[in-house]
Amino acid sequence: MTTLQDCQQRDAQDPLRGLRNQFSLPPGLIYMDGNSLGALPKTAAARLAEVVTQEWGVGLIRSWNSAGWFEQPQRLGDKIARLIGANPGEVVATDSTSINLYKVLYAALSIAAHDAPGRKIIVSECSNFPTDLYIAESLCKERGLRLQLVEPEEIAAALNSDVALLMLTHVNYRTGAMHDMAAITAAAHTAGALTVWDLAHSAGAVPVDLTGADADFAVGCGYKYLNGGPGAPAFVWANPRHTGRQDIDVQQPLSGWWGHAAPFAFTPGYAPAPGITRYLCGTQPILNMAALECGLDTVLAAEPLGGMAALRTKSLALTDLFIDLVAQRCAGHGLGVATPMAHALRGSQVSLTWEASGREGSGAFAIMQALIARGVIGDFRAGEPDILRFGFTPLYVGFEDVWHAIEHLRQVLETAEWTRPQFNQKSAVT
Ligand SMILES: Cc1ncc(COP(=O)(O)O)c(C=O)c1O
Repeated sequence: MTTLQDCQQRDAQDPLRGLRNQFSLPPGLIYMDGNSLGALPKTAAARLAEVVTQEWGVGLIRSWNSAGWFEQPQRLGDKIARLIGANPGEVVATDSTSINLYKVLYAALSIAAHDAPGRKIIVSECSNFPTDLYIAESLCKERGLRLQLVEPEEIAAALNSDVALLMLTHVNYRTGAMHDMAAITAAAHTAGALTVWDLAHSAGAVPVDLTGADADFAVGCGYKYLNGGPGAPAFVWANPRHTGRQDIDVQQPLSGWWGHAAPFAFTPGYAPAPGITRYLCGTQPILNMAALECGLDTVLAAEPLGGMAALRTKSLALTDLFIDLVAQRCAGHGLGVATPMAHALRGSQVSLTWEASGREGSGAFAIMQALIARGVIGDFRAGEPDILRFGFTPLYVGFEDVWHAIEHLRQVLETAEWTRPQFNQKSAVT
């Protein structure tokens, strides 16, 4: 049986422990929602103040050049590239994940229409994040294609000669299940299809090797494990074999001036910039970019300590501990684990299901509300089944946090605290 002392000892021996000091977290709070919104880097407030008072207040318009504002998408993109197995110059930080997804799906479909005309299907997963499906749906309408949704185990069989594109989220937002990117990409290529990966729950959470997997396109999120702050810019990556193509003009559809080869030439016709820069559209939110850079630096601070591999080792140790403690200390309360046990199939979160016969309403929602009231923050995702989500950002979640989170969960279940009416009131964001 694991004890509190065991957990404290693991924290004391954790080589990454010091990285937690990079964050400003309320004392006593156990934050297990970094898969939704990452914690605040301590550097962010001062950096934002500097951007506001100095770069904006004093530098004014000059700061586009003197403070490097204009190059921020590429500079931050190069930092993100280090976390996802991409090379410098292949990633830009920009826009939102949804918008970037529209751009890369459009570009990928243009390539498919040229190289493999007649393919009419985009394959994705039934439980992919809804925004991904909604964006794909609208492109299908626009181009007379069909979106085919399958279960994970049906993906390989769905890849036939009608498929133009396979669009997947690497780590599932509900279950935390992780795909084998290299194997699935290879299978898609063998079938003649391109791949688009959503790394929203992967970048900064698990090692990703886009180059090694020979993927085609990827997008991802800045405000989750990259700690870039609410609404942080997202990112986009395209394999250089697509951006560098000379035989066809692989354009993204939002051909704004920031993606132009010479934006300050102010010519009336559009000519895409070389490389990934063409995936920019318009003026970037400089304050949000500055916050995102602070967030990226918190993840890159792990590089001298082993980088993403070391973060992954800790993340798996944390999720293993959480799963073990659910079994040891919460047995008999109807909890199930929706996240795969196999390390190779697990992202950096644990999703619990809850079933108890004779209970009405969404117990999982109320259990999460009761936990949040106790200072243990995860979140709830409605569905079949309802999910209690716990995210493990190894930069700031410790082993003792896991112990206390489970202890609170045990108490909430044992005392039926969650049945109190106040824990059943839903707000707009769950
Ligand atoms: C897999 C995935 N993709 C995309 C998004 C969100 O996209 P956006 O930042 O455009 O709202 C989320 C948000 O949780 C997500 O989980």
